[in-house]
Amino acid sequence: MIKKAIAIVLLGLTVSSAAFADGERVTYPKDYRTSLENYLSLDRTMNDDQVIRLFTSKEALAAAKAGEKIPDGTVVVAEVYKAKKDKDGKVIESALGRRMRDKFAAIAVMKKGAGWGKTIPEEFRNGDWDFAVFSPAGERLAKKDLNKCRSCHMPLADTQHLFSLEHMAQ
Ligand code: HEC
Repeated sequence: MIKKAIAIVLLGLTVSSAAFADGERVTYPKDYRTSLENYLSLDRTMNDDQVIRLFTSKEALAAAKAGEKIPDGTVVVAEVYKAKKDKDGKVIESALGRRMRDKFAAIAVMKKGAGWGKTIPEEFRNGDWDFAVFSPAGERLAKKDLNKCRSCHMPLADTQHLFSLEHMAQ
């Protein structure tokens, strides 16, 4: 009896954590370079050897400008690049004092879906946003811990869990 109860509990845990952790509902955003707008490109602020380029939809940019909620279904794409380094491994700065893009490393994606937040435990919840990360060729990088993404974006409740909301609104 006890064994059976434990088995049921374990099964329940596996199913529920897969439902929220596996992140398959955020799919590779094919054609984002043509269908979305590149609204900001910058040296990453929390990673000192990376450069990032950000894309989202016209509708999301319009909502940000109007001070409204970003619509359900919105996809935000972040292209992450390694910064160019010299032969000693030091990041090179251009004459403008900016990093330069080297290897295209990953595509980090946020997508918002109606009611998505409900399936994510409160301590990792970012409103109705969820996260995924892909290789530049579009394969899901399934080993990445998406709770790290969730934990870092979570405190930004005032800006809809986006670091770059003000830039969307420009
Ligand atoms: C340590 C904090 C941190 C972690 C972890 C993190 N991010 Fe971010 N993210 C940022 C910052 C800061 C920005 C703004 C651009 C920059 O400076 O890199 C950002 C920007 C973004 C954006 C553009 C929208 C926005 O918020 O401005 C997306 C999409 C994104 N991250 C996805 C992800 C995904 C997917 C993961 C996990 C694989 C992740 N992030 C993990 C800090 C983090």
